[in-house]
Amino acid sequence: MRKLTLGSSEVEVSALCLGTDLIGSKIDRETSFRLLDLFRESGGTFVDTGNFYAAWLPGCKGGESETTIGLWMKERGNRHEMAIASKIGFDYPGCQGGLNAAEIERECDKSLRRLQTDRLDLYYAHRDDSETPVEETMEAFDRLIRAGKVRAIGASNLRSWRIAEANTVAGAHGWARYSAVEQRHTYLRPRHGADFGPQVSINEDLKGYCGARDITLIAYSALLQGAYTRQDRPVPMQYAGVDSNARLEVLRGVAEESGVTLNQVVIAWMRQSDPPVLPIIAGSEPGQLAENLAALKVTLAEDQIRRLDVAGNPDIKQAWLR
Ligand SMILES: NC(=O)c1ccc[n+]([C@@H]2O[C@H](COP(=O)([O-])OP(=O)(O)OC[C@H]3O[C@@H](n4cnc5c(N)ncnc54)[C@H](OP(=O)(O)O)[C@@H]3O)[C@@H](O)[C@H]2O)c1
Repeated sequence: MRKLTLGSSEVEVSALCLGTDLIGSKIDRETSFRLLDLFRESGGTFVDTGNFYAAWLPGCKGGESETTIGLWMKERGNRHEMAIASKIGFDYPGCQGGLNAAEIERECDKSLRRLQTDRLDLYYAHRDDSETPVEETMEAFDRLIRAGKVRAIGASNLRSWRIAEANTVAGAHGWARYSAVEQRHTYLRPRHGADFGPQVSINEDLKGYCGARDITLIAYSALLQGAYTRQDRPVPMQYAGVDSNARLEVLRGVAEESGVTLNQVVIAWMRQSDPPVLPIIAGSEPGQLAENLAALKVTLAEDQIRRLDVAGNPDIKQAWLR
């Protein structure tokens, strides 16, 4: 699998990232290991986890995903081949959440222990924290980098202006800046004002900022839980409407003429967008993951990209900018 470097950092990652929020919890350990093995055998190295995954599931208390990845890397002896991203910011048992210095330091150590490693390749602020001064957060992240516990930092679910503010403050002090931004993003566009709770979507504003500042854009929920291909998964209401109907029609056309699946076109379109977006792929069984991995073989023609880009209600593009 092709490799790329995260922003202006020295961290090399694979062209697709494996999402693992349900690994070691909803997905049992045996299947989790099979999914991780399949990803690694396909050349994947970039794995996305988080300290509180999957505390929201009944019977879970957080840390299940990191613990399972740690066990897998230990058993396979492959830590040195992998690029592991984790996150801090949400509360879960034993952690109040937020981005204050004490929490960042404590939670990083907990993540390292669960992952059975001494450094994270990428550490994200998982959500914004308006109660902690941005200086405190960025200095704490920088201390982790200087201590060798973290190689690069990223932001997830922060608005563009907050990312720019944090990076400006970090630059002024000579601290590390965010090299990657992970947000919600798929081919369909959210309706104006769509509510995703704490989740923030990629928009044109963020694309412009990340493109200009050499920050890698990373997308989660890229396949809308399978809604592109599954009868049992309706398009989420935040996306439903005439714009999505028009875009789905073009997506189906491109998939049909290319002889590939809709999921594969979504992944390929994202990778070929300007600036490129690195998709997080997931799957609860190997068949799904194999389909998503095979998207790497798909290269869309310029005309197909253009048709996909312009599809939909032209007025939406304006709303989407906000
Ligand atoms: N930073 C953040 O705030 C944030 C938020 C959300 C997610 N994430 C990260 O992103 C990862 C992916 O998020 P997501 O689960 O929302 O992504 P998603 O790609 O929208 O959904 C994944 C689910 O879609 C179904 N699926 C995937 N591939 C399929 C295929 N080829 N055919 C049919 N169904 C398929 C499976 O559902 P079933 O299991 O039901 O079969 C799978 O579990 C997470 O694991 C996590 O690492 C980050």
